[in-house]
Amino acid sequence: MRQVKKPLCCFLLVSLPLGIFFLCLWPLKPYHVVDVKYGMPAIAENLLQHGLWETSDKYAHISFKVKEIVAGLLPKNDCTCDKVEPVLNLPFARHLFHQVSVHQFQQVFKEAEREELKKKREQEYQHFLERSHSPADMMIIAKANSPLEYPVQGLQVRPLKTIVIPGLSLQAPSRKLYQVNVTASLGTFDVAAEVDEVTVDGAGQMHLSLSSAQVDNLNRQLQFITYTNTIFNPNTADTVQLETDGHQAFFVIKIRHATIPKLYSSGDQSGYNISALVTIATKTFLRYDKLRELISSIRRFYPTVTIVIADDGSNPQKIEGPFVEQYFMPFGKGWFAGRNLAISQVTTKYLLWVDDDFIFTSNTKVEKLVDILEKTTLDLVGGAVREKTGFVTTFRHQISVERGGEDGDCLHTRMGHYHVLQGFPNCVVTDGVVNFFLARTDKVQRVGFDPRLTRVAHSEFFIDGLGILHVGSCDDVTVDHASKIKLPWSKADENEKTYKEFRYPKSSEANIQLKHGLFYSKNRFKCMVKN
Ligand SMILES: *[C@@H]1O[C@H](CO)[C@@H](O)[C@H](O)[C@H]1NC(C)=O
Ligand SMILES: *[C@@H]1O[C@H](CO)[C@@H](O)[C@H](O)[C@H]1NC(C)=O
Repeated sequence: MRQVKKPLCCFLLVSLPLGIFFLCLWPLKPYHVVDVKYGMPAIAENLLQHGLWETSDKYAHISFKVKEIVAGLLPKNDCTCDKVEPVLNLPFARHLFHQVSVHQFQQVFKEAEREELKKKREQEYQHFLERSHSPADMMIIAKANSPLEYPVQGLQVRPLKTIVIPGLSLQAPSRKLYQVNVTASLGTFDVAAEVDEVTVDGAGQMHLSLSSAQVDNLNRQLQFITYTNTIFNPNTADTVQLETDGHQAFFVIKIRHATIPKLYSSGDQSGYNISALVTIATKTFLRYDKLRELISSIRRFYPTVTIVIADDGSNPQKIEGPFVEQYFMPFGKGWFAGRNLAISQVTTKYLLWVDDDFIFTSNTKVEKLVDILEKTTLDLVGGAVREKTGFVTTFRHQISVERGGEDGDCLHTRMGHYHVLQGFPNCVVTDGVVNFFLARTDKVQRVGFDPRLTRVAHSEFFIDGLGILHVGSCDDVTVDHASKIKLPWSKADENEKTYKEFRYPKSSEANIQLKHGLFYSKNRFKCMVKN
């Protein structure tokens, strides 16, 4: 008996806690694979901004007369830049009339290259649209739960422009007179066409009233209601009130300028041309031996990639060589100030951030990181840094902010990631990564590196970028780190001593105070939990 029981006991003793441990862990680890590749279902951009809403055939038999003066205000599917000549050809016309100048941009390019350029630009633009649109911009119509049908979201008008309001209709039980009112506060209503047997009151005003004895005619008329923004105040919204007897509804029209894309050339079709797509950016301070080692390692693999160096050393040494841009700064301006200067000079689509003591190896495959940013909606993807000890770090961390009261919000950071990236089994999605990353230049420039963070700082960039940067991390692209570990018998030279004094100051307490002060006053955090 005893011999049987003992192993069983042992088995239970070991397996039970293990089982409970894994059961507890299970709900904490929902590491699904998520697809963030380009090519998601297209967003009905046309429906949002152009022309008439797809009018249902139901009322097609009811005739209407187009009201040119209003219909002419509606956005067209295509625009042109035309020169309108002054009507009178007077001798002093030039002085009397404001001169109109028109410029066509396509002519900058040779005829032979235009087609190709346009195709590439369009591809970049589609990617831009996919990255910048949110499902909250999509048109949704509330079907008649009440007698009123209207658009719930997705309505947008350019400042001072006109749109047709799609999706308005009345589904009321029969009665003698049907009436619908619309009221706005930042613009006026009109009709793009007039329908028989419908009375329109208040055209060109903020309150429009429609009535008819025929519900079908009224519904036909509702398809032609236009809204014109009359108060210039972009990035706001007009709340429209829609009324019929006993029922009310509200919907919102966003007043927004077009988002101007910032597109870059994506280079050649045949594989990625890293020199055309990527700039390597770094910040250096006194460690010229390390920097030279980094540059020569880069040149072994990428002989023509531009390297931007921000340098705030005391006796700056000129780094010679093709495709190297070195920017000198006042002495000791600091870590983030230098990073900020370096990224500000990048003109390629992507920038690769490296520290000045990194070394490229055959495993530093920038193409792989480019491939991820080209194919997904991610903005930044980190690699892995390999220490001399063989230890590899990706420094993936998740950042979240919990809403607080008037004392401020609570910041949480913890090591880890959210899910694996579909199609890239070595990559995950997270919020922050190590000092070795490839990123969309425009996004990194938008977040910026706060120049007030002069010494030890890193995660602060990703905290400032939360909600702006969509971040990934891959462990199959590595860069080597020149050893930080100093052997006890080797003498540190003067430069190295000064470097350490500045980078890791004795009064690190003051540095922490500075960071915490910024968290409090700039980011409105009251506290932080780090796991
Ligand atoms: C619509 O507005 C008119 C005034 O323009 C008002 O007399 C009428 O009662 C309103 N109808 C409804 C259903 O709100
Ligand atoms: C890659 O791009 C660079 C910079 O735009 C250009 O000089 C070079 O000719 C390109 N290389 C190839 C192979 O297209």
